[in-house]
Amino acid sequence: MPDRFDLPAGFRWGAATAAYQIEGAVEEDGRGRSVWDTFCARPGAVRDGHTGAVACDHYHRYPEDIALMKDLGLDGYRFSIAWPRVLPTGAGAVNPAGLAFYDRLVDALLEAGIAPLPTLFHWDLPQALEDDGGWLNRDTAYRFAEYASVMADRLGDRIPTWITLNEPFVHTVFGYAMGIHAPGRALMFEALPAAHHQLLGHGLAASLLRERGLEVMLSNNLTPVEPASDSAGDVAAAEAYDALHNRLFTDPVLLGRYPDLSALGVPDDIYGAVRPGDTDLIHAPGLDGLGVNYYNPTRVAAPTDPGLPFDLVDIPDVPRTAFGWPVVPDGLRRLLAGLRESYGKALPPITITENGCSTPDAPDDQARITYLATHLDALAAAVTAGVDVRGYYTWSLLDNFEWAEGYHQRFGLVYVDFATQKRTPKASYAWYRDLIAAHRAY
Ligand code: BGC
Ligand code: BGC
Repeated sequence: MPDRFDLPAGFRWGAATAAYQIEGAVEEDGRGRSVWDTFCARPGAVRDGHTGAVACDHYHRYPEDIALMKDLGLDGYRFSIAWPRVLPTGAGAVNPAGLAFYDRLVDALLEAGIAPLPTLFHWDLPQALEDDGGWLNRDTAYRFAEYASVMADRLGDRIPTWITLNEPFVHTVFGYAMGIHAPGRALMFEALPAAHHQLLGHGLAASLLRERGLEVMLSNNLTPVEPASDSAGDVAAAEAYDALHNRLFTDPVLLGRYPDLSALGVPDDIYGAVRPGDTDLIHAPGLDGLGVNYYNPTRVAAPTDPGLPFDLVDIPDVPRTAFGWPVVPDGLRRLLAGLRESYGKALPPITITENGCSTPDAPDDQARITYLATHLDALAAAVTAGVDVRGYYTWSLLDNFEWAEGYHQRFGLVYVDFATQKRTPKASYAWYRDLIAAHRAY
């Protein structure tokens, strides 16, 4: 495997995690309940009944985890803040002990020479807000902006760049359309107001953060969409899927308008959720960087089931991760080239805020090294072709709670024995450490 890629000087190397997937301590220091605590308690919702109640116990073990990051040589660490730790009911009174945890975490990162890159919302909505409709309720966008300003007031002196939302596509579709993630609603396309309200929350928060002189990014799960054949039906289905997965989230933020959703049968005002002026609220604050989370491309064919305007089909003849996801490194290059082509000057600098794979349950993870190296090669090709990419945060630092899959899928550079909480750096950890050192020396 190459130990260096053709990436610009100053390129930032990082790793990513999310609060509910690593912190544990769900009932400590006044943390409120989140939709994920509720969802995990629902029989059958998460494989083998696993929950994030303990996870990696990072809430207590963060000094050890930061020591691992320091040895790795990370420039930056992307983590998320648990909204219910800070505002136990989502709004109103701030929980000082919850805020103090993120204060300690950020100070310890800075002490280790690692730039903190926080995400304000990585799916763990306070249950009290869900009880009022969650992201289907427009008010949640305003509560999100208030929460963002609480965090910016507390940590903005030490953190210049903030990510508002993580993967509104996955949260909307898995959480509200299909019901396989919290909050477990299965509304199909009628889930899309939840997407609009997340984007509105992003816009309102972005405006408050930028007023304070902070930089704002938004991370989505983006996928290059390929039609299964050149047939008109497959091509039209691929366009419909691309609008849903990618453009629904990127167009309003970068262009100030929604894509045409008529092929999905979704009305222009997204079932009445979009009010006059909303797309300006989403677009006008501006975006300092686009966070791209890339795992795999999506192949789409004309529908066989009349209920949906597309079919998702397998990509043949490619390797698979332990999760069964297709491994297509060139998809990352195509995705980035496509973003540049679609958005041109409206595209801000990109940071890869997630990329990685799950591997079998063992610290010798050669498959992860191959996955990361081939994707970095594809990334370097995109950069050489002119796409402005500033950094790469691999998913994930630690094996952790992989949502509906519980602890069954291991995405970490560091192996975690969930019975003892012992951390063991994997083969990929040593490889990534050497890679970062080689780039720094160059
Ligand atoms: C997709 C991935 C996506 C994931 C979300 C999978 O089915 O293949 O691209 O990131 O779902 O958890
Ligand atoms: C999410 C992570 C998740 C990873 C692997 C993304 O969809 O942001 O929380 O663990 O992909 O599924």
